[in-house]
Amino acid sequence: KIIILDFGSQTTQLIGRRVRELDTYCEIIPYNKFPNDDPTIKGVILSGSPFSVYDKDAFKIDLSEIRGKYPILGICYGAQFMAYTNSGKVEPAGTREYGRAHLASFCKDNILFKGVRENTQVWMSHGDTITAIPDNFKKIASTDKVEIAAYQVEGENVWGVQFHPEVFHSEDGTQILKNFVVDVCGCKQDWSPASFIESTVAELKEQLGDDKVVLGLSGGVDSSVAAVLLNRAIGKNLTCIFVDHGMLRKNEFKNVMNDYECLGLNVIGVDASEKFFAELAGVTEPENKRKIIGKGFIDVFDEEAHKIKDVKWLAQGTIYPDCIESLSITGTVIKSHHNVGGLPEKMHLKLCEPLRLLFKDEVRRVGRELGMPEHLITRHPFPGPGLAVRILGDITPEKVRILQDADDIYIQGLRDWGLYDQVWQAGVILLPVQSVGVMGDERTYERAVALRAVTSTDAMTADWAHLPYEFLGKVSNDIINKVKGVNRVTYDISSKPPATIEWE
Ligand code: XMP
Repeated sequence: KIIILDFGSQTTQLIGRRVRELDTYCEIIPYNKFPNDDPTIKGVILSGSPFSVYDKDAFKIDLSEIRGKYPILGICYGAQFMAYTNSGKVEPAGTREYGRAHLASFCKDNILFKGVRENTQVWMSHGDTITAIPDNFKKIASTDKVEIAAYQVEGENVWGVQFHPEVFHSEDGTQILKNFVVDVCGCKQDWSPASFIESTVAELKEQLGDDKVVLGLSGGVDSSVAAVLLNRAIGKNLTCIFVDHGMLRKNEFKNVMNDYECLGLNVIGVDASEKFFAELAGVTEPENKRKIIGKGFIDVFDEEAHKIKDVKWLAQGTIYPDCIESLSITGTVIKSHHNVGGLPEKMHLKLCEPLRLLFKDEVRRVGRELGMPEHLITRHPFPGPGLAVRILGDITPEKVRILQDADDIYIQGLRDWGLYDQVWQAGVILLPVQSVGVMGDERTYERAVALRAVTSTDAMTADWAHLPYEFLGKVSNDIINKVKGVNRVTYDISSKPPATIEWE
């Protein structure tokens, strides 16, 4: 496997994704937690960082533990750090080194650049630049503006690149990473969904033995794949619980329960909507709404789980981006996403997370390999608190009904027009305003809704989806004509950042 040492860059996860796309297993580890004595490590990548090597708080490590033992590729800060600690020179770069650049010259016979096209585009994003390298470092690439765009330490399998091969805009970036991972480190590219399933099922059998396991299903891809995988390993010893908090999509509870039945899962469905509506009555503040739903969910789940005898394990569909120990620099909480974060502590159960090392696209590949139906696999993400974060202001059953009806028309429309799979996520938001309209001869004074659809690769950033006007017009008409209580439809054209995907 490849170890990616994380110095806090926003693109560290992307490096991980790229390496996995090469069917090579990798792990992202905080910069100061290198796992010594792991015989399966074949190479190390040092990530970028928000820091400059000169910052007093900059993340620093002793490279002598790694250098000489494993091939190393330093990216951006990683490259600067290696040059700097070997008495090279690193200086502030100025804005001209941001964004697109082209490798005007590079050593074509260097193994790192095998198959890389002349003048290939690379993506620069750094505050500092390397202005001088030590004698035993050899410059192997330059752009028009950056003299030392890449180097290799002579006689060693150690490289540094100032640009970011992991980002999409570096056209041959994946080729460069492949050269490092496969040709230099000798990784075999043998990670596949089938091999993952085989080894994980064996591990789960070993880990769980005859123990009973309980798992919370949400209808989403991650928890569903985790359930099918566990079912394959331990069968009847797995009990799944699906809580309906009353703020799911229209008919979602029923449909998803059906899907689960077809998959042969043992599922207890709990309709707890009344409890949630009662607790949420009159609450308008978004974080309060989230907290109430999070806590209510834990209570209901805990109560149900206690009805099953001798449960020893709590299984969750946690995936890799949820558990990479993040080197949060600012520590600001924008939204409390981890709605079930308190569950393991409360239940005193051992935790089983069979997908914890997978990225979302890999979870989907595993799901397909497990034979799950395509509509479950390609489902858009849906927030834990459900429609509660799409009803601005307080929540009532009537508002949920309006939103469910509008949302159903929108989502079905996306499917009918072949647009569903082109967007990352879509939904309708019920606004806390009423507006004047006219229907027949009558004046109306009813609610306005906003349609939202975004494209994204990881939900960290997102752009509004450029849906066809004809489609938006048709959906707007349908909603106003068919959903009682709505007389105006708008389309949200904000991207993330500065907006977020959900409105609350
Ligand atoms: P934002 O609104 O922060 O959302 O741009 C990013 C992604 O996360 C989903 N989301 C949640 N998921 N519990 C969840 O499980 C939550 O509390 C929650 N809030 C937002 C959102 O739908 C989007 O996919």
